[in-house]
Amino acid sequence: MPAQVPIPVDAASRSARLFDSQGRAITDLRVSITDRCNYKCVYCRTGNQGALYSELPISDYLRLIRVFVSLGIEKVRLTGGEPLLRHGLLDLLRELAALRTLDGEPLDLALTTNGHLLESMAAPLRDAGLQRVTVSMDAVNPDAFHRITRVPGSFHQVLAGIRAAKAAGLEPLKVNCVLLRGFNDDQIVPFAEFSRREGVIVRFIEFMPLEEDRLWSPEVVIPFLEVVDRLATLRPIVRLTPNAASETAVRFTFDDGLGEIGIIAPVSQAFCGQCSRVRLTSDGKIRTCLFSQSDHDLYGVMNSGGSDHDLADFIQRTILKKEARHHIGEPGFLKPSRSMVHIGG
Ligand code: 5AD
Repeated sequence: MPAQVPIPVDAASRSARLFDSQGRAITDLRVSITDRCNYKCVYCRTGNQGALYSELPISDYLRLIRVFVSLGIEKVRLTGGEPLLRHGLLDLLRELAALRTLDGEPLDLALTTNGHLLESMAAPLRDAGLQRVTVSMDAVNPDAFHRITRVPGSFHQVLAGIRAAKAAGLEPLKVNCVLLRGFNDDQIVPFAEFSRREGVIVRFIEFMPLEEDRLWSPEVVIPFLEVVDRLATLRPIVRLTPNAASETAVRFTFDDGLGEIGIIAPVSQAFCGQCSRVRLTSDGKIRTCLFSQSDHDLYGVMNSGGSDHDLADFIQRTILKKEARHHIGEPGFLKPSRSMVHIGG
């Protein structure tokens, strides 16, 4: 048998890959394509009417994403605001589905939505090339759901959206639930039952101080171990092996293998050391961490006539400034310069 010859890696493309000053490979880009949202979730927005909205033409996001992909980005997640509100989303997805990573693979293409418009959009999204969706749904009890989203009558629409997305093959389907003491801490077991019944992955996320209201305090956060204890009151739980080193969720199932629960614990068990993410805001600014104190104006480089080479150079220099970690809960913690609706999950 002939000896296996390693496939030569093109030196130029290898050196182009993004690494930060901590040696972390940056392979995961989240792009907010609008900062408009039809919900006013308590952990995110105040619901102020006076907010300033800013978004770029779809063709500008596409150009910026292409440059990121030329630097080794492999996963692109579209977010907002609420991305399904954005005209041109399907065109953008079609273009993104045609891109290839430096290794010649299709991008891992996903989207996070509140699900409000998903029922009718699920099949068109899939046809445009979307692979997976994550739906933010913070309660399986309609009253608790409305208290959090502050938009009445929307729970059943989101449920229908989740079912339509599954039927359209947007799988594995993840449901994100931000746990807030006093709002939805009684929803842990009902969500586990929901995961088992609907065949979706439910992920509980510790509340981070990213909201416009001043709601966050350590007492409102429901920490990892408390979630584990509550789950175990339903049935014995079983830990699943991680899918990837940079995975943020610790995954569990139950002793009968039915249902999957992830716990994302950025507060009590920070995972910054494995962070592979960078974010682009809807106004074209790079955020190297959710908790950054400033953004880096990539769109400014483009708007002043910068070439793709200039954009790549700016991205590489910015990634070197990525923060080593966040400081939630430590003395002197400063809230980030933007709230979640203006960053993009
Ligand atoms: N803390 C934790 N998670 C949050 N999200 C939005 N705001 C917060 C917050 N303050 C989550 C939502 C959404 C994802 C993109 O980010 O659940 O699914």
